[in-house]
Amino acid sequence: MKVLIVGGGGREHAIAAAVAKSPQVDKLYCVPGNAGIAQLAECADIKVMEFESVVSFAKEKEVDLAIVGPDDPLVGGLVDELENAGIRAFGPNKKAAILEGSKAFSKDLMKKYGIPTAQYEVFTKAADALKYLDGAKIPVVVKADGLALGKGVLICNTLKEARNAVKDIMLDKKFGTAGNKVVIEEFMTGHEVSVLSFCDGKTIKIMSSAQDHKRAGDGDTGLNTGGMGTFSPSPFFTKSIETYCMKHIFKPTVEAMSKEGRPFKGVIFFGLMLTEDGPKVLEYNARFGDPEAQVVLPRMKNDIIDVMEACIDGKLGKVRLEFEDNAAVCVVLAENGYPVKYTKGHVITGLEEFKRKRNYFCFHAGTKKTSKGVVTNGGRVLGVTALGSDLKKARANAYKATEWVDFEGKYMRHDIGKAIDEVKE
Ligand code: AMP
Ligand code: GLY
Repeated sequence: MKVLIVGGGGREHAIAAAVAKSPQVDKLYCVPGNAGIAQLAECADIKVMEFESVVSFAKEKEVDLAIVGPDDPLVGGLVDELENAGIRAFGPNKKAAILEGSKAFSKDLMKKYGIPTAQYEVFTKAADALKYLDGAKIPVVVKADGLALGKGVLICNTLKEARNAVKDIMLDKKFGTAGNKVVIEEFMTGHEVSVLSFCDGKTIKIMSSAQDHKRAGDGDTGLNTGGMGTFSPSPFFTKSIETYCMKHIFKPTVEAMSKEGRPFKGVIFFGLMLTEDGPKVLEYNARFGDPEAQVVLPRMKNDIIDVMEACIDGKLGKVRLEFEDNAAVCVVLAENGYPVKYTKGHVITGLEEFKRKRNYFCFHAGTKKTSKGVVTNGGRVLGVTALGSDLKKARANAYKATEWVDFEGKYMRHDIGKAIDEVKE
């Protein structure tokens, strides 16, 4: 069959690698892709929000399945457009992707169906939000309602910061229309866990857990980023926590979406905080995580095409989702200065090394092929990933592999997976 992947980051490279393993796939396309994906797929320079071009490309190439990776096209309704053109597509339609597209929607859904999450209020007027802050407990979290490139969540340690956050989002429209509403919520503490799941509208099957490292600097300092590294599984997401979450969070979410007339088919990513009062939802995403996909998918035993088709056809109940009994760690190599200011176009050396090694993967995020060779083309450049029999071995392998590649301005965190050391053997 012919498969098209929409997107061009590390997540889509990890999806492409999983799809390329399927014996059912004989042709893989990707828009726009990147230099790494280009080794597995024929890439075309079409942007993910150019829906008409994406759909006509899919029609022209007669693809049997389109997989939409990023949040923006999902929330914008690319799956609907593909389906309207008669193309099978994996991912939630617009009505379901609102689970990620509007934080006010998702918080109200959780409240209505009793799904544990932080206490919150939604505001459509800045004056009301500012008044509410006067009585709010600090620290407090201020969130733009809509998509804001992962930057719309502000953790405020003083009342002044919180007031400024409301003003930035609602009055100065720092994130555009994403800030027409704000959610102000209670600050939670605990271990964060990312749980990705496949859903077919009524059934949910979870993948192995993972943990991201969002801040730019070692020791969780510095600015929030798209993610500086991940590990999987999370030792904090125990079997008993999983059982609790299945009963109180995962199944109720899928049932709630179905009851609201928005059956969710695709991947729901549960961002969880394991608080002293039990697991609570931090956020929902309507897609694979980036860089969570880079550590979860290489551990998946199933043929990803079988699983995705079961989601589309409402037959996920028949699938037994299985993961290797091992671990993976992904260390993101970024350009120095990310996420603020950095340069691009630096030649990357050492990429060949990964072709010679099993259990090591170099997922490309911001890269481009040029006449000089593969060059950096974004803040997050590569996701160096390694498997190991346990988390500590996977971490040692991943850090060893970060030495194989080089480029000017290469920057990484040195403590990805350090939390593992807290776990008693
Ligand atoms: P989000 O974009 O919703 O994932 O939020 C980004 C990050 O902000 C999360 O991964 C958490 O680390 C943090 N965060 C979001 N909401 C809260 C909260 N209520 N309490 C503490 N941290 C939060
Ligand atoms: N790694 C977090 C995300 O994909 O949103």
